[in-house]
Amino acid sequence: MDSKYLKTTLINGHQKSSILHIEFNSNSLNKKLFKELDEILTYVEQYQGTGNKESIDGVIFSSKKSKIFLAGADLFEMKDIIDMESRFIEPVIDVGQETFNRIEDLKIPTVACINGICLGGGYELALACNYRIATSDAKIGLPEVNLGILPAWGGTTRLPKLIGLINATQVILGGTPQAAKPALKKGMIDKIYHREYMVDHAVSLIRGGKVKQPDPKVFTNQLLSSVVTSKARKTVDQKTKGNYPAPYKILEVLNKSVSLSRSDSLQLEKDAFIELVSTPEMKNLLRIFFLQEKYKKINTSKRDTSPVNVCGVIGAGTMGAGIAQWISSKGHKTYLKEVNSEQLAKGLKTIGDLYVQGVRKHKFDRPSARAGLANIVPLTNDKKLKDADLIIEAIVERLDVKQSVLSQLETNLSEDAIIATNTSALSIDDMAASLKRPGQLVGIHFFNPVHKMQLVEIVKGKHTSAQTLQRAISFVQSIGKMPVVVKDSPGFVVNRILVPYLIDACQLLDWDFTMEEIDSAMVKWGMPMGPFRLMDEIGLDVCEHVAADLYKRLPHLDGELPPVLTDLIADGFLGKKSKEGFYKYKKGKSVKTGNVNKESFNIIQNKLIDSIVSESELVLKEKVVDSADDIDFAMIMGTGFAPFRGGPLSVKNETASLASK
Ligand code: NAI
Repeated sequence: MDSKYLKTTLINGHQKSSILHIEFNSNSLNKKLFKELDEILTYVEQYQGTGNKESIDGVIFSSKKSKIFLAGADLFEMKDIIDMESRFIEPVIDVGQETFNRIEDLKIPTVACINGICLGGGYELALACNYRIATSDAKIGLPEVNLGILPAWGGTTRLPKLIGLINATQVILGGTPQAAKPALKKGMIDKIYHREYMVDHAVSLIRGGKVKQPDPKVFTNQLLSSVVTSKARKTVDQKTKGNYPAPYKILEVLNKSVSLSRSDSLQLEKDAFIELVSTPEMKNLLRIFFLQEKYKKINTSKRDTSPVNVCGVIGAGTMGAGIAQWISSKGHKTYLKEVNSEQLAKGLKTIGDLYVQGVRKHKFDRPSARAGLANIVPLTNDKKLKDADLIIEAIVERLDVKQSVLSQLETNLSEDAIIATNTSALSIDDMAASLKRPGQLVGIHFFNPVHKMQLVEIVKGKHTSAQTLQRAISFVQSIGKMPVVVKDSPGFVVNRILVPYLIDACQLLDWDFTMEEIDSAMVKWGMPMGPFRLMDEIGLDVCEHVAADLYKRLPHLDGELPPVLTDLIADGFLGKKSKEGFYKYKKGKSVKTGNVNKESFNIIQNKLIDSIVSESELVLKEKVVDSADDIDFAMIMGTGFAPFRGGPLSVKNETASLASK
């Protein structure tokens, strides 16, 4: 068979019998691929181990794609079923469960050669095989929990049997793809091997009788299983504040399934899936997935795609260092300019630390980290910047300073270089006033920390040319970030909506709520951190700068900035970076403070969410962006706004009852 979805080849090699090599040619598991697998499995079932010349004595799965084995179920097909009755959802689960059971039930050895991304359904297929070989750059896992569901094509049933309940609980609840090395350590795969020789190696393992049915790690002790589950439940409570149903359902299924037969356990997976699919949390999380797909692909026009190769970053502080590290890791030669070698050394140290951290966390291997670091060219003047295609300015947030630095810089750049500013809130149009080529200025606003935050606001000024905008969008997408195009307006989207929220949080202190209560209430609501912790992270001085600018430019924000903020700044307490802001910090962690009265959570949540929702409505009304999607997406990706609630404009119609679940 050689179709759009897969190709099969009989590997013979002077032997009497053959090994069937099935190569996927699809990124995901969809209906058509399953249909073809069904036909192939029928053939294999007929000829497996027959002992004659037609005998098939092994099956190897691999992929024709260079970096993907199988990235999971086709979520575009999934989208169509989530609002349907369960009788329409069941067949979708059945097809995966039945196919993978048939693979597991083959009497001949089966090997998955995982040559890259192997997630969700892809890994569930690999789990049904007897042996798993992966390349060193493979990413393997079951990320279903991130979509508010559970692995229901046998993943929740098979993984504990392969790696034990404790490890399986961590992997399935964590939802983070594992790099090959940790996956090997946990037992999720059996071997790491070179891409080019993987299939040959699989053949020799099969021929040599080295691929055997593994002994399942049977864990039938219900008492022990309950202990593991109850411990994991505490971690889930802490992490999710009870806001996400999927992790709890996963624990329930894992706890019960360890002592059930395969068919009963699969039934349990299926029932849990059907239950979770109808939750609003799942629908919101799936929507975010599709929004991510949308922003990865949006592009204004394909007219000019002249690529950005060489980049320059001006300023090596918090943002400049983070941006330079990210860009250099994507293979771009990156000039990094600072005012003097002392500041430059500080920035380079930050970059080095980020690379070390990346290696430790298996984001990349050592050679890639070394190559990335070698892409950085430190500078203390503009002379070499002539060959840069794009410059990103990340210096102090002051219009006069930015204007003078940019106009000076422009004289040293090539005629068609893009000048981008990472300003948090200043006007692009005001900055363009100092330039000879204002059409080449655009805002490329990264979020802090750059290596973690996927959102980038692309700010289109009055003069920004279509070509500049196009190149900026393409560049941002090419480095794996997600761009939302915004109008040049105060604070753009994220900071515009955040500032009134942060100021209102300060004002709540006058209502006799404590900052610990306010922070806890918002974390319970679903925010990754409360407003005071957030201000400490951003830096109180940066918050003040941005807020002062918005207060000047937006008539509906009036009055003084809260004295609690300005007083702390005056006393030198700038947040985490100065070891004290609203909280005190020791070794980067905030020192535990006062008690929390949960009775006040509702009032706090209502007041602060109301602030976010009403500012979001204004942003939409003023057409700062094109759609409500842009705002919901930017707030979720830029601030971690409770993803399971779907973004500020998705919660706007909900009432006080929503505040405290
Ligand atoms: P920072 O104070 O950490 O770093 C600024 C750096 O620029 C300093 O190291 C300084 O020596 C250097 N610098 C100043 N003038 C320079 C010049 N003429 N040439 C080269 N280097 C020069 O500031 P941070 O936080 O990195 O902010 C930079 C920009 O990014 C600001 O516009 C800020 O609003 C924006 N931003 C900040 C975020 C944050 O969370 N800190 C988030 C997003 C944007």
